[in-house]
Amino acid sequence: MSTRAPSPVVAPIPDGLMAIGAATAPYASALAVEDLPAGAMRRVTFGDLDVLLAYTANGIAAVDDRCPHMSAPLSIGYLEDCVVGCPLHDGRFDLATGDVERMPTTGGLLPDGTYVPVWTPEGKDPKPDPPGLKAEARRFTRVRRLRYYPVRIVGDTIEVAIPTG
Ligand code: FES
Repeated sequence: MSTRAPSPVVAPIPDGLMAIGAATAPYASALAVEDLPAGAMRRVTFGDLDVLLAYTANGIAAVDDRCPHMSAPLSIGYLEDCVVGCPLHDGRFDLATGDVERMPTTGGLLPDGTYVPVWTPEGKDPKPDPPGLKAEARRFTRVRRLRYYPVRIVGDTIEVAIPTG
């Protein structure tokens, strides 16, 4: 009788959130299955494309390893169930839905364009946004929804569909 662990599940890609060109892209070998235990995240680089592989509570998901706020590497953040936390401004993003779960502390625009002010601790007055281009850039930065790459398991290897063009 075999004691081999079952292959991990691949998480479904939320509707409309496939990365551009990924639906018809060829699969590339990314990582050995054993190198991505449940609850782990890894960065895998293909040319100049950094991909985050995350073994979430829904299965394995692949998205850009760039925060949809200001592009920080999500792979050095943290993963809780299906939510990845960004190490830079503490934004949280739900890998099961692609949605913003918590706005970055710097504030800015949600995907639908709704403005969210700079975070302030509970009970404190909102921080005044100083005038200037940096503050304006923060206010106009739109946090996008995540974009996904198809994943499959072939034998002991995790493969990801990577656009080549
Ligand atoms: S870069 Fe990730 S929350 Fe700002």
